[in-house]
Amino acid sequence: MPPIRIPRSVRLIATGMTPLNPRSTAAKVSPSNLMQQALRLALDNAGLGLRDLNGLIAVPSLADTHFMEAHYLATQVGMLPGKSKIVRTVDTGGAGPVTGLLEAKRMIMYEGADLVAVVAGDAVKNLTGEEFLKRADQTCNHPAAELPSPVIPSGYDRIAQYQMKNFGITREQLAASSALMSIMASRHPSALTRKPRTIEEILSARHVAPVTSVLECARRADGGAALLLASSNFLERKGIARDTGVVVIGGGEASGPLFPPKSIDDMNEDMFSCEEAAGVAYEEAQLGPRDIDFFGLYDCFPICLIRAVEAVGLAPKGHGGAYVEEKYHQILDGLKRDPEGFHPQDVFPVNTHGGLLAFGAPWEVPAMYNIIEAFAQLTNRAGPERQIRNARRALVYGNGGIFSASAVALLSRL
Ligand code: CAA
Repeated sequence: MPPIRIPRSVRLIATGMTPLNPRSTAAKVSPSNLMQQALRLALDNAGLGLRDLNGLIAVPSLADTHFMEAHYLATQVGMLPGKSKIVRTVDTGGAGPVTGLLEAKRMIMYEGADLVAVVAGDAVKNLTGEEFLKRADQTCNHPAAELPSPVIPSGYDRIAQYQMKNFGITREQLAASSALMSIMASRHPSALTRKPRTIEEILSARHVAPVTSVLECARRADGGAALLLASSNFLERKGIARDTGVVVIGGGEASGPLFPPKSIDDMNEDMFSCEEAAGVAYEEAQLGPRDIDFFGLYDCFPICLIRAVEAVGLAPKGHGGAYVEEKYHQILDGLKRDPEGFHPQDVFPVNTHGGLLAFGAPWEVPAMYNIIEAFAQLTNRAGPERQIRNARRALVYGNGGIFSASAVALLSRL
């Protein structure tokens, strides 16, 4: 294997995550409060304080959007006023946490920051179903797209139909994606989905669009999460071990339209930005799919997971559905044969937390969970149920809108 080229090293040194759907008082479930809790948890986990931060990136929420979200948060927590602080709001939808991670790296490499937090939090489960849909429907809607409510599930459903028509994926393969994620989630103590679901349960559940049932939608949730990135100089100055956490060794971003055309006959492969983003990230790190031990892939709907396994090179183009279905059956058989000793991650090292479909999805937050799970895997803290043996490198992918923004980052234990 050729040696890996590493640019100036920027490390992800700690993560913080609130529980999903906390329910103690109304104040505790505001997005801003969840962001603050997550930030404090990340700083505590690193043994650092707010005064150490000189960069802050925040992703806006849907439940309580603020003008200049990151400045709002920085002011709330007392980071501002203050000198030499770089504070920036990033909005690439669900890709936001991965865009934020890459932006934090740029702040450290080129803008003089040395400890940057990336924060996201939302409380969309705290909204009534009606209010959530009113807001969610406005995000990717356009008269030209003619998407019925629920707009986002309908948009992805249309793309699933495109994939069925053009690549022959089946309804069962879509459902297998959700069933597979529910097996993964059932092995994570913080996931919302506690019990694996079957393809039959998924197919017979209430449909919210022609080929999408309610059990094939990102699971609406409340939660906050934060990442801390630091320069090697900062670690040295603070007397923190130089090999703390993981290195950000590559990244790529690409864009697609905000909504799909109204007819699947007008769709084409240029709509999908994940393949390009993954290609740029692999190129920067001089790595390929075989070098990756864990994949944290965005899976807001089954078609997103299916396109993602193709985009990152786990399956050839057009074969993502068959790949996921095969892995699902392999895992079912393995667990039947040896319920204690078989580990799903040995055959499918993807979303060991259960992804948006089963772990939980607070709007723009969930790519954070892909990163947090990657961090746990690479630092050998995923626990016996989920740990991937000798996990050295991870790929994390965030997707915004309806395949509208893709951000991919590569992390390494070096
Ligand atoms: N797994 C298991 N159960 C689920 C589930 C899932 N994935 N999704 C819903 N359910 C079940 C649960 O029992 C749930 O209740 P609890 O979570 O409290 O147990 C119950 O269904 C009801 O769920 P909702 O309250 O969400 O149901 P609803 O009838 O009000 O709405 C829906 C149904 C229209 C499908 C709504 O859930 C929905 O719109 N989901 C998709 C959310 C979405 O679009 N997220 C963004 C994805 S795109 C993206 O992530 C990119 C970006 O840029 C943001």
